[in-house]
Amino acid sequence: MNAHDSEKVVGTLLARGYREVPTPEEADLVLYNTCSIRDKAEQKVFTRLQNFKREAGKGKVFAVLGCVAQQEGERIFERAPHVSLVAGSASYTRLPEMLVQLEEGNRRVTGLSLDTDETFDTPFTRRDNPHRAYITIIEGCDKSCAYCVVPFTRGPERSRTGESVLAEARRLAESGYTEIQLLGQNVNSYRDPSPAAWDFATLLARTAEVPGIRRVRYTTSHPRDFIKAIVDAMDSNPVLCNHVHLPVQSGSNRVLGAMQRLYTREQYLERIAWIKNARRKMALTTDIIVGFPGETEADFEETLTLLDEVQYDSLFSFKYSPRPNTAALAMEDKIPDAEKARRLMVLNEKQRAIQIRRNAEFIGSLEEVLVEGHNPATGQWIGRTSQNRTLNFTHPPNGGASLVGRYLNVRVTRSGPNSLAGESAANVM
Ligand code: 5AD
Ligand code: SF4
Repeated sequence: MNAHDSEKVVGTLLARGYREVPTPEEADLVLYNTCSIRDKAEQKVFTRLQNFKREAGKGKVFAVLGCVAQQEGERIFERAPHVSLVAGSASYTRLPEMLVQLEEGNRRVTGLSLDTDETFDTPFTRRDNPHRAYITIIEGCDKSCAYCVVPFTRGPERSRTGESVLAEARRLAESGYTEIQLLGQNVNSYRDPSPAAWDFATLLARTAEVPGIRRVRYTTSHPRDFIKAIVDAMDSNPVLCNHVHLPVQSGSNRVLGAMQRLYTREQYLERIAWIKNARRKMALTTDIIVGFPGETEADFEETLTLLDEVQYDSLFSFKYSPRPNTAALAMEDKIPDAEKARRLMVLNEKQRAIQIRRNAEFIGSLEEVLVEGHNPATGQWIGRTSQNRTLNFTHPPNGGASLVGRYLNVRVTRSGPNSLAGESAANVM
């Protein structure tokens, strides 16, 4: 989501006559788009601001955008006095007018209001990837998970109209994009604000029908709002990729309760069963936090048994990081960092073994990939399957033409913990 916010900000700047330069050293205006989901990300911003200022900051205008901007607000001016603009993502609709103030030489411009009821929709988005395009369908979050800073930094939920999402998808298809990724903190609570009042499953189905679009992905889901109709929609149109990212955070009901996740392990597993019973084979991935306050060894064991039960294809794991303005900040029974690190290692070792097994099951199969790049060091092309697996492959010499952006069938011959390898069946489509 942050990467896509950057694309929209760059597009807005370009539309106002700004020009992108190859390095920050050459820029007159330097914008930092920031993340505050965990403390480490937040600290990085301040280190970079300091270092860059010292080396090359003379005469430049600095802006801090994104979640750290929203969270720290005007305190950023104190910590980094050379910054002139501080704006959170909920204020980006006002970005053009904030730029005017900057251009007029204003030294302290802020956009920190959270009460916008609009999404940051811009026709000028400058996209980084020529084949896959992100489309924001809902911004903000109305949940209140005890560890999470997002409802505070990104504000309340606002959905875009279904028609504007489809119009953007059609425009993208016309300009050559074949893959679309629908974005939101919680896409499952999408609700079309127009009278059509589409829910997320309907929006997914409609997006998949846009001519020229061959793949549609979405992220991220909240298990509580993940309804069976989503699996049914995926089952009825193969354009909807075979992958569900369903963050569980913990396998222990006690911890899930303390996290205010609004579902139990059993309810989560019920959703997993819908996905596993789909007609197509879906990949499953998740997010897990270890060391949430009060997480006992027994609680952690339950997360490990959940991994055994679900057999995820991949997971993102994090040590709990205390965040400002969150309910968990005041909770007792903090887990020491060394213990969090140990749990993270145990979790990742278990998952690695699962991935080695799961990836090996693909050897011999034929997979369609979208080619994303080429690795000159290995001579392999880099492809991605509908299940979102990386599949590196060799291809017969074709006169040096790039395969990037093409869809190819690849025979899987080898597997590792994080990727597959194979040989293209050479029938370029
Ligand atoms: N500490 C650690 N991980 C966190 N996440 C969100 N907030 C925190 C936090 N305070 C993780 C969750 C979420 C993912 C995007 O980041 O697992 O799903
Ligand atoms: Fe954060 Fe929970 Fe909202 Fe996800 S659903 S953004 S974890 S508060």
